[in-house]
Amino acid sequence: MDKKISDKFLWGAATSSHQVEGQNYFNDWWSWEQALKVPDQSLLACDHYNRFREDFRIVKQLGHNSHRLSLEWSRLEPKENKWDENAWSHYREVLSTLNSLGIEPFLTLNHFTLPKWLADKGGWNYLQISNYFENFAKKAVEKLGNLVTYWLTLNEPMVLAILSYLVGIWPPGKTSVANMTKAIELQMEAHVKAYRVMHKTANNIHHKKIYVGIAKNVAKMDPCTDGFIKNILPTFWRHHFYNHFFIWSLKHGCIFFPGLFFKILPLRGSLDFIGLNYYRRFHIKYAGLTLKKMLGDDCLCLEHRIGGKRTDLWWESYAQGLYDLIKEFSRYHLPIIITENGIATDDDNQRIEFIKEHLDAVAKARADGFLVKGYFYWSLMDNFEWADGFQPHFGLVKIDYASLQRMIRQSAYFYSDYIKKIGLD
Ligand code: FCB
Repeated sequence: MDKKISDKFLWGAATSSHQVEGQNYFNDWWSWEQALKVPDQSLLACDHYNRFREDFRIVKQLGHNSHRLSLEWSRLEPKENKWDENAWSHYREVLSTLNSLGIEPFLTLNHFTLPKWLADKGGWNYLQISNYFENFAKKAVEKLGNLVTYWLTLNEPMVLAILSYLVGIWPPGKTSVANMTKAIELQMEAHVKAYRVMHKTANNIHHKKIYVGIAKNVAKMDPCTDGFIKNILPTFWRHHFYNHFFIWSLKHGCIFFPGLFFKILPLRGSLDFIGLNYYRRFHIKYAGLTLKKMLGDDCLCLEHRIGGKRTDLWWESYAQGLYDLIKEFSRYHLPIIITENGIATDDDNQRIEFIKEHLDAVAKARADGFLVKGYFYWSLMDNFEWADGFQPHFGLVKIDYASLQRMIRQSAYFYSDYIKKIGLD
């Protein structure tokens, strides 16, 4: 295993295609929005599809040496097996622009949205989906592999499985445990197949080494009180199922969770690094024995919300949790990249405080010898925040949605100064 992955520390911000590009007519989210299942429609979003050059000039100006972004599969394969060469050229241009500015692209294959034709077959419940994903992954490396060294296959597979297939507030709006567990299993299978074919393709066609990982959402989980049965046990369960199970299974080549899953995967160790998306802390209590209760909001004790630091989405900002999770995930002996960390707020001083506290947590983890190799703030700019629409503002850059004008916030300069101070090594 290559523990080094990069000589330099990767500093940047993240985006995802559907949240910033605009006019992604051919994916499942577009249809969901058109059916008014969420309050806002993404429409033009930030028009990043046309304004990426301007946005990357800002990235450069802010001194980032890397940038996380995603491909929009529905643009590349708008109909089954019909690939759009113009869309491939577009992403070639996007990635070449980053490279020519000296900004290392960090590319996600699939950030939540699916082509509509694939969603119509059943999406992450369709038994053949991993073959389609493998094919997409292979094509992506064939076409773009010379421009990209760092890849993420999937973004937050557990979040997707829970919100789309158990809670049902994201497309396709399914609400059963069976749908959720199938979605988890098929994403694992898809990741493993993609990992294998991506390395093979990069090696055969581009004669280069690439690094492939996954962006895993993790949250700090603390019990509401010290009651063992009512608080500590449910917290332990949720922590292991939500935070660890996906990564553990890929690392060991076997999908294993007591009472729920056992299946051998075709490959062990299909991760070159672990991407962690960290936002917040939960306080957990017992709410019932069904998976819906154990994973849903019923087991959160909301009275704890009163004390902690709250963001505009009522998430609790808790920087110590980032340190704790880095420490814990170090047990997999893989490099760690913070692939997302950010705050929704209209108070930019609160954003500065959030960034400072979380960067301090990363610095402490590095000083303590944990192998963290990159940090991406979520997000470069305000954008379409899924079921929450355009209201939450996560951006280092403010977007005026009427004029689409970009305005750099003070917090962006704060982050930029921090990078300069710490340096890029
Ligand atoms: C993460 C998602 C990202 C964005 C942030 C706020 O869960 O990966 O797309 O929505 O949350």
